[in-house]
Amino acid sequence: MQVIETTQELQARADALRARGRRIALVPSMGALHAGHLALVDAARAKADEVWVSIFVNPTQFGPGEDLGRYPRPREDDLHLCRESGVRLVFAPREDGFYAEDHETWVEVARLAKPLCGAGRPGHFRGVTTVVAKLFLAAKPHVAVFGEKDFQQLAVIRRMVRDLGFDVEIVGVPTVREPDGLALSSRNRHLGPEARRQARALVRSLDVAERAVRDGLCGSSAILARVRAELARAPLAWVEYAELRDPTSLEPAPEALEGPALLALAVHFPSAAGGEGAGVRLIDNRVLHPHPHREDRP
Ligand code: PAJ
Repeated sequence: MQVIETTQELQARADALRARGRRIALVPSMGALHAGHLALVDAARAKADEVWVSIFVNPTQFGPGEDLGRYPRPREDDLHLCRESGVRLVFAPREDGFYAEDHETWVEVARLAKPLCGAGRPGHFRGVTTVVAKLFLAAKPHVAVFGEKDFQQLAVIRRMVRDLGFDVEIVGVPTVREPDGLALSSRNRHLGPEARRQARALVRSLDVAERAVRDGLCGSSAILARVRAELARAPLAWVEYAELRDPTSLEPAPEALEGPALLALAVHFPSAAGGEGAGVRLIDNRVLHPHPHREDRP
């Protein structure tokens, strides 16, 4: 497995591979790899001749007061996991080496990046789309793989690719979960035992909503009331948002649901370490499929 640190070297490798007619699948990541990332690597393998992983804790997608400084960077473990998973190349630019010191060019998806995580983290998606565009231009992949756990991120990246005409196929992979349902995330390690226990409230509330919809409930506010009641069973949780949105446009879902609706959650828990600004922000989501033809029950 090759580890490359510079854009120029990576572009040369991509050109050489493409000249031989080989297909490249890229898995962009910020490292601290877990089984969720490895599911992306598996999906990538099925799509191309070589899987490349990028590991870069992208400073431009962190706001002031966010967890850039304490984001985990277990480089040797990450490289080991990649090697074991059959990854052929890791692109790991130096943290001060991927952006020019006077970088001033941004890729911004205007509307899709506004609600949900974009509302609480202004500038976050501008950082994501800019770094993903840079990664695509550096690695020249045929395919790039992203997780559905970050549903809005995936939607924003698909829109960027369509709007700018990137010749890259975007593949989404379902969320990988702990046995109790909590979505895997590098941030889970910051939860203390009690917060970790209560964090199950996220997936429980997705289940509650899905059951309600299966039972015929189609009213957005009634569904969200049940979601909030379930989240309220976790007293350590602070709910940043719990919303129903159109899965494609991310516009608010209508009060009477008629088609698929995205239920998206962002919930904060205190971190084990405590301290100022040190909360743990967890997100999760599920697309609900209501049956408006069935009787709506209160
Ligand atoms: P990171 O949080 O490292 O996630 C890398 C990829 O792994 C993303 O596509 C994310 O959706 C996916 N992922 C994370 N947890 C997952 C899980 N439990 N199941 C399935 N997939 C999961 O997302 C980023 O990095 C960055 O924003 C990035 C796109 C790399 C740009 O910097």
